[in-house]
Order: sequence, then C-alpha cells, then structure tokens
Amino acid sequence: MTYVVPYSGISNRPGDEEIKAVTQALTQDTLAMGPCGKEFEARLGDFLGARHVQATSSCTTALFLAAQVLELQPGDEVITTPQTFWVTTWPLQARGCVIKFADIDPDSLNIDPATIEPLVTERTKSIWVVHYGGQAVDMDPVMEIARRHGLTVVEDCAHVAGGTYKGRALGTIGDIGCFSFHSLKNMTTGEGGAFVTRDDRYAEMARALGTIHVWGPMRERDEPAIGPYRQPAYYRDAHVLRSYTHDYVDGRYLVGNNFRMSELSAALGIVQLGKLDRLNGRRREIAHRLDEGIRDVPGIRVQNEKPYARHVYHLYTLFYDPETVGAPKDDFIKHLQEEEGIEIVVRYFPIHLLPEFRSLGHRYGECPVAERTYFEHQIQLPIYDHLTDAQVEHMIGAVHRGVAALRS
Ligand SMILES: Cc1ncc(COP(=O)(O)O)c(C=O)c1O
Repeated sequence: MTYVVPYSGISNRPGDEEIKAVTQALTQDTLAMGPCGKEFEARLGDFLGARHVQATSSCTTALFLAAQVLELQPGDEVITTPQTFWVTTWPLQARGCVIKFADIDPDSLNIDPATIEPLVTERTKSIWVVHYGGQAVDMDPVMEIARRHGLTVVEDCAHVAGGTYKGRALGTIGDIGCFSFHSLKNMTTGEGGAFVTRDDRYAEMARALGTIHVWGPMRERDEPAIGPYRQPAYYRDAHVLRSYTHDYVDGRYLVGNNFRMSELSAALGIVQLGKLDRLNGRRREIAHRLDEGIRDVPGIRVQNEKPYARHVYHLYTLFYDPETVGAPKDDFIKHLQEEEGIEIVVRYFPIHLLPEFRSLGHRYGECPVAERTYFEHQIQLPIYDHLTDAQVEHMIGAVHRGVAALRS
C-alpha cells in the first residue's frame, strides 16, 4: 500500500551540510577515536550544560555503561516505567537486577512519581526514568524520593534530545543521562548515543568501560623477562599507546567493551546537533497544528504540554475514547490506516506484559493506568521533519472523518 502519510525510517533527512561533513571526515587519518568524536562530545556538553559527555554506539550501550558504573548487583531492585522500549531494562536484567514497575501519568505517559515510593524497599538501588515521547518526567518529586532513600537516578533520554524540565536540559538532572541518536530520533548519527554525567567518578569509569583496553596487560609486560625471553624493548604500538589507556580506576582493572561512536557518526552528529533547535521547533509547530486541528473532535483528547516541560515531540500522541466514539481503538487505527493512508505505529506495548516479564511473575493488573491507556486510548500519528503541511492537514481531516464514520 502506498501511504499518504507513511511512517518514516528517518526523522530528519541529512542534507548537503551532513554530506560535506561526513565526506570531510572520510579524508582523516583515522575513522575511529579521532577529532570528530571529541568535538561532538564537547559540543553536546556545551549544548546540554553537562560536565561529562561520552559518545557511544547507541543508547543501549550508554544504558549498559550506566548499569555498570553504578555497579548494580544481582538482586538489586530498580524502579522503572512500563511505558518504554524494552531495552531500557535490558542492561538491568543482564546484571540480574530485579525490575519493579511503577505506573504512569495517563496524559504524559511518563512515570508517575506518586507510584514510585510504595515500591521502595531495602534492596532498591536506583530509579530509571524514561522521558517518554519527547516530554520531561516530573523530575523534582523523583529526585526528592531518590534523595530521601539514597537512590541513584538514570534518565533514559532516547526521545528528548533538546527537551527541558523547568528550563534545565534533560539528561543533566539525574546522576546519568543516556541519549539515542538512532535514525528515528530527533537528531541522528545513524546509530549512536551518549552517556552524560556530572559525576567525575562515573565519567572515569565509563571511559574505562566503554572501550577495550590493553594497557593493563601491557603493563604486566614491564617485567624484564617472560620465561626465557627478555621483554622486547622495541614493543611499541602507537595506536594502543595513544588510545587504549583507560583501564585502572582506583587501582581496579576494569574490563571494557567497544561501545564507541565512529568518526563518521560523530561528523554527522556535529551538524545535526547544530540543527537540533530548528528541528525540534518544526516538530513543535507540527504538533501544535495537529493539537489545534483535532482538539474539538468528540472522543479525541490531545496531549497537553506540561507546564514544566518543553516537549520536543519525538512522538505525537493523541488519546481516543472508545466509549464516546462507540468503537474500539483498533477500529479507529484500521480506519486511519486503510481508509486514509496513514501508517500508524503505536508505542509502546507495556513492557511488564511482555513474555519475558510475565515469565518472571509480572502480570496484567500491575500497572492499571499504563494498561488501560495502551489498550484503549493511546495512538501516535507520524511526526518527522519532512512531513509536509499538506500531510499534516490530511491527518487532521482524517481524524475528523474517522471519528464521524465510526460514530455513524
Ligand atoms: C526509550 C528508549 N530507550 C532506549 C532506546 C535504545 O536506543 P538505541 O537504538 O540508540 O540503542 C530506545 C530506542 O528506540 C528507546 O525508545
């Protein structure tokens, strides 16, 4: 089927500037761990007002770093939201942590701080929030609970590059922020991410853990002899000596990974970051036009921007009321998709109901707001930089026509 408004695999198409920057990077002496990565990290740090930024290969790897630097142990409990892409919890599961699901606010679809505290036990170590769809979690009460119980806070910022909470950049409020620059995100490096922290020790550990390093074993080579052989005096690997030297933190040897961003991605990221405010501005313009166009349709509720948040609309969410319209949400989606040619993707199936979590004892009824909202109400319309005004107007008309058709 050819859609009038397709879902797009890229949120904002790179243009001449990106092509020039990547082409330029291709002429460098290295495509790994070079000047573009350093510049991207510095610029992102300035943009966010963050003390430490480490570019990564994805948000997933940044989240893995977060779980590692916090030294979460098997059995440690972490409180998070069910309304996210499942990968938010994967680094925790990989370490044997126990996931506790709080419920969500039915409008922002973000973790509801009031549902966090009842889950805190002696084993709780951390709260992992997700700024869903481009809008900030209400961070003050989250940070207050964390302070009171001595917990760390990780912000999954995959959806909110450029978003703010009370004027502060998201990703800089909790202990660690993890960003995604995947092709679908508000700014992209193709695949990519960033680990952000103000904590010097976390930053040092992340540097050690985010890269494979061989300097430790090389130090052992400082012994004058190995078996019958003398240590070769000429052993010098310039590449290793220059790059792979972050291994000991507080005298502990940390086994690293390759979680690094390539120079080509970083070159792309430098340009995209420079455009991010404009890109987010266009998203806000589209979202506000959609809000205005469908706000009065019976059975449709638009998502209100919270007074504390600058929403950057990674997703455009609306809420459908099956009772007012007299038909289930799936019928409305089918209508938008088949009659109006709008490709609908609904994010996210509440993750506590995924088979992986049900097999651990999680069940229907655990997060009633997230469940009801997902199954009955929440829908996303496509939103990306290259949507045309005509496509936006088509979506507005389609929502009016869809509700009218189902009500009649
Ligand atoms: C909330 C959330 N967290 C993390 C990720 C993982 O991002 P990445 O693809 O960069 O690993 C995604 C990806 O869509 C996401 O939506």
